[in-house]
Amino acid sequence: MKVILVAGARPNFMKVAPILKRLRAHPADFLPVFVHTGQHYDADMSEVFLADLGLPQPDYYLGVGSGSHAEQTAGVMKAFEQVALAERPDLVIVVGDVNSTLAAALVAAKLCVPVAHVEAGLRSFDRSMPEEINRILTDHLCDLLFTTCEDANTNLRAEGIPEDKIHFVGNTMVESLLTWRAQAERSTIGRRLGVEPGHYCLVTLHRPSNVDEPERLKGLFRALQRIAAQIPVVFPAHPRTQNRLREFGLWQPGAEVGQLMILDPLGYIDFLWLESHARLVVTDSGGVQEETTILGVPCLTVRENTERPITIAMGTNVLVGTDPERLVGEAERVLAGRGKSGSIPPLWDAEVSARIVAVLQQWRRSKAQRAEPGEDVEAPAVCAEANR
Ligand code: UD1
Ligand code: UDP
Repeated sequence: MKVILVAGARPNFMKVAPILKRLRAHPADFLPVFVHTGQHYDADMSEVFLADLGLPQPDYYLGVGSGSHAEQTAGVMKAFEQVALAERPDLVIVVGDVNSTLAAALVAAKLCVPVAHVEAGLRSFDRSMPEEINRILTDHLCDLLFTTCEDANTNLRAEGIPEDKIHFVGNTMVESLLTWRAQAERSTIGRRLGVEPGHYCLVTLHRPSNVDEPERLKGLFRALQRIAAQIPVVFPAHPRTQNRLREFGLWQPGAEVGQLMILDPLGYIDFLWLESHARLVVTDSGGVQEETTILGVPCLTVRENTERPITIAMGTNVLVGTDPERLVGEAERVLAGRGKSGSIPPLWDAEVSARIVAVLQQWRRSKAQRAEPGEDVEAPAVCAEANR
């Protein structure tokens, strides 16, 4: 079974790594093809993750780069269609909720190639968030929906997705974390930054709703400065955020902002060390909400909603909204020792990719059983010519 696995942006690499490794461990059953769309392209947003997560060089690098949503989505579609036509895969696997996810799923579906979505069913119920559009459309294009939690199953059922497409397998981002946690313990990033375990706050912010609006970003920046007056704050800033901080006159590269350390984005292993040993994490990232739940580190999410409510119901996450006063108040609560503790959601373990592979094997068998006499299930169903 030829399987194309698509990654394009930073959080995709952690999600594909365990699946690619597991597919490669079954060479008699799977021929994986790894496609990198190039949505993220800076070394510290892309290459570093291939190295840190033991990923091979991509079989295809599409070099799509940045642009408006339409430009980026269309760029991935045009380039990925050529790959799909050349490779004629039996299945395309997409992960997460970025523009590359939707673009690749749409191309595959139009070519009659079955598509699987890893991390299906998450919903923020906020359509002003570009990822929410990507999630809904991707799920409705897919033949196999791999979910991380029960609320995702409920969301998919409520949208009329047939039960037999939904497979509750757990969280591959967590599988990566558990795989690389011991290695991360050997990172020297704490020493290099001069921070002590348990005595700093880690921050990531990159949602357009938080960083693209000058007043919003200024308010959050002042809140971080107030937290930094109490404890060192380590802020590896996404390129979008660095651009906005400069544009809005809040910071220049190399400028000292007291105990607020603004850095370039970090590799996975260094970031995982910082996340594991932080007293507190402040974020608007999707993945970081999940990782802090596994690590048992209090997390304050600077958003009005989350597509990952299980991290609140079971984990260490608190949705603090975007009011700077509330953020500082909640941070002070954690620093005073009143941070949230939590438990581990079901199936957030190191066997997620094994469950996915088992579903794929079963899916292939049942496809063969359902085939009409004389039908060749080995022949990939690319219907591009017919659809032209
Ligand atoms: C994208 C995803 C978002 C995800 C985030 C993870 C969509 C709609 N958004 O947001 O869901 O949470 O990735 O990090 O797919 N840039 C660089 N170098 C890079 C990449 C980006 O300088 O390697 C800059 C460019 O100025 C670019 C901007 O960052 O315009 C935004 O990049 P883009 O991929 O469009 O969106 P993200 O904000 O990264
Ligand atoms: N991450 C990283 N370095 C950083 C910031 C984040 O390695 O400087 C990792 C983090 O551990 C998680 C993933 O990137 O695995 C989350 O990606 P991001 O926040 O960019 O995207 P989101 O999850 O919001 O879509």
